[in-house]
Order: sequence, then structure tokens, then C-alpha cells
Amino acid sequence: MRPTRVAVIGCGRIASDGHLPAYRAAAESGLCTLVGVCDVIIERAQEAARQYGVRPFDKVGEMIAETQPEVVSITTMPSSHYDLTLQALNAGCHVLCEKPVAMNLGEATEMVQAAQRADRLLSICFEYRYWDESVYLRDRLAAGDFGHVHAARTWGGAVYGFPTSRGFHRLASAGGGVLTHWTIHNLDLALWLLGNPEPLTASAFCHQRLAQYPAALGPSLDAMKPESGIEDFAMGFVRLAGGAVVTVEANFLQSPSGRHEGWEFLGERGAASIAPIRVWLDRGDEWIDDTPVPGTLAPCDYRMERLIAGFLQAVRTGGKAPVSGAEILRIQRLMDALYASAACGHEVTVETPLSNGSSGGNHGANLY
Ligand SMILES: NC(=O)c1ccc[n+]([C@@H]2O[C@H](COP(=O)([O-])OP(=O)(O)OC[C@H]3O[C@@H](n4cnc5c(N)ncnc54)[C@H](O)[C@@H]3O)[C@@H](O)[C@H]2O)c1
Repeated sequence: MRPTRVAVIGCGRIASDGHLPAYRAAAESGLCTLVGVCDVIIERAQEAARQYGVRPFDKVGEMIAETQPEVVSITTMPSSHYDLTLQALNAGCHVLCEKPVAMNLGEATEMVQAAQRADRLLSICFEYRYWDESVYLRDRLAAGDFGHVHAARTWGGAVYGFPTSRGFHRLASAGGGVLTHWTIHNLDLALWLLGNPEPLTASAFCHQRLAQYPAALGPSLDAMKPESGIEDFAMGFVRLAGGAVVTVEANFLQSPSGRHEGWEFLGERGAASIAPIRVWLDRGDEWIDDTPVPGTLAPCDYRMERLIAGFLQAVRTGGKAPVSGAEILRIQRLMDALYASAACGHEVTVETPLSNGSSGGNHGANLY
């Protein structure tokens, strides 16, 4: 099978750190060939083009017309995801879009529908799903090893982790702060591990420490002055169909104490955590450490190779999008509800899915 023609739209940080190296690795395995890169800042496209030996563009339409990609990665800020996705789908491309998929549920819904109409794949970059630890834990949860799982706890962020690129400081381009740009991964992975239960209600608190205490944070962070709706801290509580709950804590300005991100699951017969993996089974009178032997699972990292190869394989074999339309809309509904709750100060109902029905999780009755 000949290599799939691929182009990348947006040559900023995640393109250079994630997508472009992953496409290079996929090209070395014969899966794809990179045909073009585009950035509205032409110097960024030129730099990527120089490194990867392709043509640079500053206009997406021109790049698609001249290089005829079958797949595009969209690695721009969220405000342009909707327009660029529709443009690429209408040109016949499959689309791998960065998270968050869109600025709101209305945009996300139209994007999913446009992909269905065009008969093209649309997927989102949730690379945490490809970790060995994620796949291992998902299998154990699905097998019912922990009995009814009633709670998950996840948190994410970084020490002095507020992004420095200006687009992240404006609501009109970023769409939100640490919940949107970091812990969307944590929530997606928690839901995916639990078998995709529908979120029913959400409650959240958002805070911007950067604005409240600029002097405490030093001149480099003080100089950013993000708009007030760009939270650098958030805490959320989500009730899921089937009876489980999830708490999420998001912090771009974490203290250095402890793990900077993690997931913990509590069930009637056990508990588990990932990043790093720990598994405990409760026999009723004693806890058994059932953690996999160290070294058998690869450590969690932020590389994109598996995700990109997975998307290319789906395109090449006529498979399903690794992140389905239903999953894309589920996480967007939850993000919208968390922000709505933070704005009104109380728990809100998460919008009901239109067509895919309420789900208590795909793993079967023994999970909840
Ligand atoms: N999956 C992950 O782990 C991960 C990690 C980091 C960032 N991201 C996401 O990736 C997105 C981009 O983040 P980033 O840090 O790379 O941002 P960035 O600002 O470094 O890069 C974005 C680039 O897109 C370009 N651009 C903007 N509009 C364009 C358009 N219409 N056509 C062509 N180019 C355009 C900008 O000039 C810029 O170079 C965000 O949504 C972010 O949340 C995902």
C-alpha cells in the first residue's frame, strides 16, 4: 500500500514537539509521506519545511490544492479548529485535530456532522489513551477486576506551567485555561477507562492565581497578563451515569510536591492508579499488591507516535476514528458544563446526547 499523503496546519509547539516527529517516524515505517506544512506566520512554516524537506505555505487552501493531502493534522489554537476542520473535510481530507476539538458544543457538533457527511475520519489528539498503563488498566477495569467502581480522582498540570504563547492568554483564541488545555486529557482518559459513561452533572470552581498574586509569581509570569477567564486553577466534580463520580483538579501553577498528574480509581474490590501504575485488590481481610512487575509496562510519556500511527492505520484500512464522534461530543459537553458551573457557582446538568443514548459505560454491568 502506498504511503498516505499528510500535511500539517500550524507549525507551533505541539507540531514541532509532537506531530511532525511522529509523522517522520510513521514515514520511516512506510505509513505516510509528509507533503506540506502551513502556518500563518510563514517563517514558522519555513523552519518546519527546512527540517522535514517539504514545501512551506501560509495559506491552507493553497497548500491543500497544491499538495493534495489525504490527511491533515490541525495543530492551531482552538478558535481556528472549526473553520480549518470544515475546510479540510470539504477538500476530502481526513482530519486529526488537536484538543480541545472546538470552542463549544455547537461547533463540535457541526464538525462531527461534517465528517459524517464527507465520509472522512475526524479524531482528536488524546494520546494518553495509548499509554501501556492506560491500555492495561482499561482491560482490568473492563474485566471487572475491581468490582463496582464508584469513584475516580484525577489531576494534572505543571510547576510554572502556564503556557507562554500569547494565544493561550486570550479567551477568543484559547477558549479557556488549564481545564481546556491540560486536564481535558485527564477527564477524557478517566471516562475512557471507565468505559465511556455519560456525564450527568458537573460542578466546578475556577481561579486565576496569576492575576490575584502576580508579585508572588515573578516577572516572567506577571508579564503574561492573561484575560480573567483564563483559569490557572480549577477543581471539578462530575456525576456519571451508572453511579460513579469523578473529581478533577487542574493547576498550571502547581507546587513541586508530589506527582504532577495522576488517576486513581476506587472499586468495591480494589483500587488502582496510573502514571505510575499501582494495583491493589481487596480480599475482604487483606489488601493484595497486584501491580504489574516493574518494567513490563512502558513509562507514560507525551510522545505522539502511537496516536499518529493509529490514526493513519484507521485511514488506510477504512477503520473507525480512534476517538469517535460520540466521544468528541461527550467531552465537549462536559467541558461546557464545567465552565457553565464555574460561571454560575453551582452544579449544572450536562447536556443530554441527541442520538447515541445514555450510557452507563461500555464495559458491562459489573463495572458499576
Ligand atoms: N495533545 C497534546 O498533548 C497537546 C500539547 C500541547 C498543545 N496542544 C494543543 O495544540 C494546540 C496548539 O498549541 P501550541 O502550543 O502548539 O500553540 P502554538 O501557539 O505554539 O502554535 C499554534 C500555531 O498555529 C499557527 N496558526 C494559527 N492559526 C493558523 C491558521 N489559520 N493557519 C495556519 N496556522 C495557524 C500559529 O501561527 C502558531 O504557529 C492547542 O489547542 C493546544 O491545547 C495539545
